[in-house]
Amino acid sequence: MIAKSMEGYVKGSSAIRAMFEEGARLAKIYGKENVYDFSLGNPNVEPPDEIKQSLIDILESEEPTFVHGYMNNAGYEDVRNTIAQHLNKLHGTQFTEKNILMTVGAAGGLNVTLKTLIDPQDEVITFAPYFGEYRSYAANYGAELVVIPPNIPTFQPDLNKLEENITPKTKAIIINSPNNPTGVIYSEDTIKKIAGILTSKEKEFGTDIYLIADEPYRELAYDGQ
Ligand SMILES: Cc1ncc(COP(=O)(O)O)c(C=O)c1O
Repeated sequence: MIAKSMEGYVKGSSAIRAMFEEGARLAKIYGKENVYDFSLGNPNVEPPDEIKQSLIDILESEEPTFVHGYMNNAGYEDVRNTIAQHLNKLHGTQFTEKNILMTVGAAGGLNVTLKTLIDPQDEVITFAPYFGEYRSYAANYGAELVVIPPNIPTFQPDLNKLEENITPKTKAIIINSPNNPTGVIYSEDTIKKIAGILTSKEKEFGTDIYLIADEPYRELAYDGQ
């Protein structure tokens, strides 16, 4: 018997996954070239040659016990340092490896972050339409996901509604820019305004409210933003 709390999740498990599997089924019947699978966001462009070569170099030049061994929980220091330098170059920040923690993808990162911040019954705010898994991530730690309705037609966050929905139980807000599914990018001004609202609500309630920026598509903004 699986946990009662899991039954609903298993029944309603991801429609996107179901579509992916349906795509694979259809590809077997009609040929891969005849099925256009827009479900999971798998890449259809090959990674640069350097990526393949780096993986080969690691396998050929590093000691196998190192390659297959444990590392620091936060990830290799040199990797974290390289990422910190990359971010500093892009954004004029001053991160070091101490600010970087490696995870297995964004889902892992968000779950670690929420596990670290959330006490049961805390509230996490996000803006609709949002990446559907946020509901599960919040539920994993007993948090309530508070959803701010969509601001049509711009899909920019509705800052008045944000302000109205912050309570003493608000522990975090998750923003996602460029956004999945709308593609909308929040301007610097918008993000500063969100931060300002959080700061003033922290003062009002005497609480800490964390701004979690989920940005897996940050490097896919091609128009200079
Ligand atoms: C906005 C957003 N956040 C998080 C995730 C999860 O990312 P990952 O597959 O790296 O765990 C996705 C994946 O589609 C996403 O679109």
